[in-house]
Amino acid sequence: MKIRKITCIGAGYVGGPTMSVIAQKNLNVKVTVVDLNQARIDAWNDADLSKLPVYEPGLDSVVAEARGRNLFFSTDVEKAIDEADMIFISVNTPTKTYGKGKGQAADLKFIELCARQIAAVATSDKIVVEKSTLPVRTAEALKSILDNTGNGVNFHILSNPEFLAEGTAVEDLHAPDRVLIGGENQEAIQALVDVYAAWVPTERILTTNLWSSELSKLVANAFLAQRVSSINSISELCEITGANVDEVSRAIGHDSRIGSKFLKASVGFGGSCFQKDILNLVYIARSYNLAAVADYWEQVIILNDHQKTRFAENIIKTLYNTVNGKNIAFLGWAFKKDTNDTRESAAIYVADHLLDEEANVIVYDPKVPAEQIYKDLDYLGTRTPEENRRLVKVVNDPYEALADAHAAAILTEWDEFKDYDWSRIKESMKKPSFVFDGRKLLNSAQLQDLGFVYYAIGE
Ligand code: UDX
Repeated sequence: MKIRKITCIGAGYVGGPTMSVIAQKNLNVKVTVVDLNQARIDAWNDADLSKLPVYEPGLDSVVAEARGRNLFFSTDVEKAIDEADMIFISVNTPTKTYGKGKGQAADLKFIELCARQIAAVATSDKIVVEKSTLPVRTAEALKSILDNTGNGVNFHILSNPEFLAEGTAVEDLHAPDRVLIGGENQEAIQALVDVYAAWVPTERILTTNLWSSELSKLVANAFLAQRVSSINSISELCEITGANVDEVSRAIGHDSRIGSKFLKASVGFGGSCFQKDILNLVYIARSYNLAAVADYWEQVIILNDHQKTRFAENIIKTLYNTVNGKNIAFLGWAFKKDTNDTRESAAIYVADHLLDEEANVIVYDPKVPAEQIYKDLDYLGTRTPEENRRLVKVVNDPYEALADAHAAAILTEWDEFKDYDWSRIKESMKKPSFVFDGRKLLNSAQLQDLGFVYYAIGE
């Protein structure tokens, strides 16, 4: 089976970059990315490549190469479904905010809507690929909807979870550690293998059964997040005992069985995947009455919440037990550097905690716009939108954020923060000038020489 036309439903952080690279590398395949959100599609089609809705280093040049040639962005979902041989579903699956499984289970309503639409429109056989991270056995539900509501055409379901990390999406897509394809029908599996084999060495393309593939995505993220929570738990111990968490990471990371990656202590992990996928894993385990398994993984989240709270409380305690009316400058709001994504960012929760204490928070992030920052805080519902706007100011100049600040808090590890004129900043801040480094980003000796009271996670 040779694939000629691919459609992807969902033009977000995964669908957009992944399809751009598939089109870049498969000149004979027409790739169409559809989304109901007109503004988002317009942005993907914008002649000005700096306006793409997803900021990823290198993405602009991939889009420039393929767009209009064999890569298209459109809101005409039905046409794109009908003409495709292969349809990727890459819509978001947020954690449920209502009903059974609220706060834990994945909300599959967007997936189901996609399935029903595919079934209604399709007049020829299709391979349907789950790209979104989904609870184990979602493929079964997909298949049931497609087979029972379709026009008598054949559907093959594949699971093809995406492992790209934001900020390095293009790099990860160009040279993935592995591509995972789960399915039952060998021909369908091979068709998707061929798409990736256009640039990925075949020994890196793993095929499994459907359930293994679906579960592997949750487990990969759970293991990664667990490493961060593990080292973060040690950071608290380091602060009390005089050990340095970076030194501990380096020492244990040299053990090839442990490995050196993902051992950087931080103010807490964020992002759209880690928390959601672990909650999902916990929910699945509980639903099969596996209490010990569920409790084990839940602890990764509990520790992460603790780390964010601990960071905020340390600021309050250090500033003489009150931040009421004090200016706290936030450097960074994104959940990690090189992305404009703020989902589940630690910054949101640290700010919320400080705002409860009536602090004034002044935020500078090189990529996140003010509207997003207010939206993140409003979404929590802790206080009214008016209150959030009264207490939080967003500025476009880091030096403005820091002028007259009682303390600076580093929430994201943007490289540019290291290159600031910290001596000038010291002059402009209130005295004593505190820096709380949630990323262990700055040079502690240099800051202390300049006269800052410098506090870093795990030191
Ligand atoms: C993650 C997975 O890495 C990726 O494979 C999956 O497809 C989606 O989820 P992403 O959320 O983009 O990717 O970012 P990642 O680089 O994994 O970082 C997640 C969070 O952990 C960030 O907040 C990051 O700052 C934090 N982190 C990561 C640490 O605090 N310490 C580390 O050592 C590594």
